[in-house]
Amino acid sequence: MQRDDFGKDFTWGVASAAWQIEGAWNAHGKSPSVWDHAGHRRRVRGGAKVGDRGIDFFHRYPEDIGLIAELGFAASRFSLSWPRIIPEGTGAPNPSGLAFYDRVIDTCLEHGIEPWLTLYHWDLPLCLHERGGWANRDVIDWFADYAAVCAEAFGDRVTHWMVCNEPNMHALQILVGIFDRFGLHLRRYFTSVHHLNMAIAEAGRTLSALLPADAKVGTTHQTAPMHPFHPTSPLRRAGHDALDALCNGMFLEPLGGRGYPFAASSLLRRYLAPAVRGDDLDALSHRFDFLGIQYYYPPHVVPAPVPGLWAVPSPVPPRSYPKVRTSLGWPVEPRGLSEVLRRYSGHPVADRLVVTENGAAFPDTVVDGRVHDDLRIWYYRSHLAEVLAAQREGVPVDGYFCWSYADNVEWALGRTPRFGLVHIDYDDDFRRTPKDSARWFARFLAGEPDGGS
Ligand code: FCB
Repeated sequence: MQRDDFGKDFTWGVASAAWQIEGAWNAHGKSPSVWDHAGHRRRVRGGAKVGDRGIDFFHRYPEDIGLIAELGFAASRFSLSWPRIIPEGTGAPNPSGLAFYDRVIDTCLEHGIEPWLTLYHWDLPLCLHERGGWANRDVIDWFADYAAVCAEAFGDRVTHWMVCNEPNMHALQILVGIFDRFGLHLRRYFTSVHHLNMAIAEAGRTLSALLPADAKVGTTHQTAPMHPFHPTSPLRRAGHDALDALCNGMFLEPLGGRGYPFAASSLLRRYLAPAVRGDDLDALSHRFDFLGIQYYYPPHVVPAPVPGLWAVPSPVPPRSYPKVRTSLGWPVEPRGLSEVLRRYSGHPVADRLVVTENGAAFPDTVVDGRVHDDLRIWYYRSHLAEVLAAQREGVPVDGYFCWSYADNVEWALGRTPRFGLVHIDYDDDFRRTPKDSARWFARFLAGEPDGGS
C-alpha cells in the first residue's frame, strides 16, 4: 500500500476540536462553553485546569501547524469555538475571537495546509444553554446566524466546511445530563436531536448560499456499524433496528430527505414526534457536498428489556470479539470502517465521503525522546487498507483525517486517553514529541510503500 494508490486528489489530513486543544478558555472576551462549565463542575477527569488549558494550542498554533506540514499532511481539520467568536451566543462577533482564527487559517495557508473548518464540535456557549440550549427551537436561528458570521469572516480563504461534528454523540451528552443534572433526560434529548438536525440542514443552506461557488460544505457523523449477536432471531433483529435507528437513522435519514425512522422505535414516536412541526420534514432535508464518516469501533449488540429499544451495546464481548483493544477498551476492528463506507455510499445526504476521524488511544510513554507506538502504526495501516479496499469497490471516498494530530483532552475522560500522532508532556510545559506513528506517516506521505515498515 502506498500513498498514490489512493489517487492524486485524495486529501490527507489530521483532525482536532477547539475545546480539546485550545485552552485560553476565557481569553480576549471568550465566554464559557458548556464544556468549560462541565470542567468547572469537576465533570472532566483531572479537574478544571484540564479543559481550561487544553494543549495550549491557542498560543502554540504556529509550532503545531509547522509540525503538521513537516509530517507531510495537506489538510488540518479543526473546529471554531462559537463562544470565542460570539461570546453572547447571538449578536455581535468578538473581533479578537475572529482574529485568532484568521491567524490560524493564515498560518495553515502559509504552510501549504488546507484548513477544513468544523463550525460546531460540541462547545455551545453556556449562555445559550441557560436559555434552553439545543432544546430551545430558537437555536436553529442562533446557529444559522453563527454560520453566517463564520462564512463572511473566513469564506474568502476556506474551501472545506463541516457544519456539525457527530450530533449523535453530542446528543448523548445531553441525554445523560453532563451539562445539567446527571440522569436520563429523554424529552430534552429527543427535542434536542430534532433541533440539531434542523440546525444542521439550515446552516448547510446558509453556508452554501454565502460561500463562493467552489466551496464544499459537509457535515460529519459517528457511524457505528452494529453487530447483533444473533441477527437471525426476529426479536433481536427488531432490537438491532431500533438501536440503529436511534444511533444513525434518526440523524442521517431526515437529512437525506427520508424522514424519521418512526417505525423502528416507540421512543421516537413518543418523544421526538411532538417536536416536529408543519413543514419540518422538508426543512430537514439538505444535500451536502460530502459526508464526513467518523469511525472507531463496532459495538456488539445484545437484547435488553427496554421498551422501544430492545437492545443495547454489550458490556461483555462475545468470544469472536477482536483481542486487541485500545486503552479505552475499544476493540480494534478495521473491517468496520469499510463496512460503514459501503453503507453510506450512495446515501442521499451526499455523493462524496471523507473519513473525517479515525484513530486510537494507547498508553504511550516517552523513552529517550521517542514514543514507540507500534500498535498505532498497525491501527492506521489496517484501517487505511480498508479505505483503499472500499475505494477499489467504487465507494466514493476521497479523504482521510487522523484523530488526532496530538494528544488532547478527551472530553470527560480528560488527559488520560492519548489519541495523538504527537505526544504532549503535560508535566513539561506541553512539550510536543512526534511519536513513531507520526514518523511512519511522514514516510508514507513522502511516498514510501507501507511507510517503509
Ligand atoms: C469522537 C469525537 C472526537 C474525539 C474522538 C475520540 O467521537 O468527535 O472529538 O473525542 O471521538
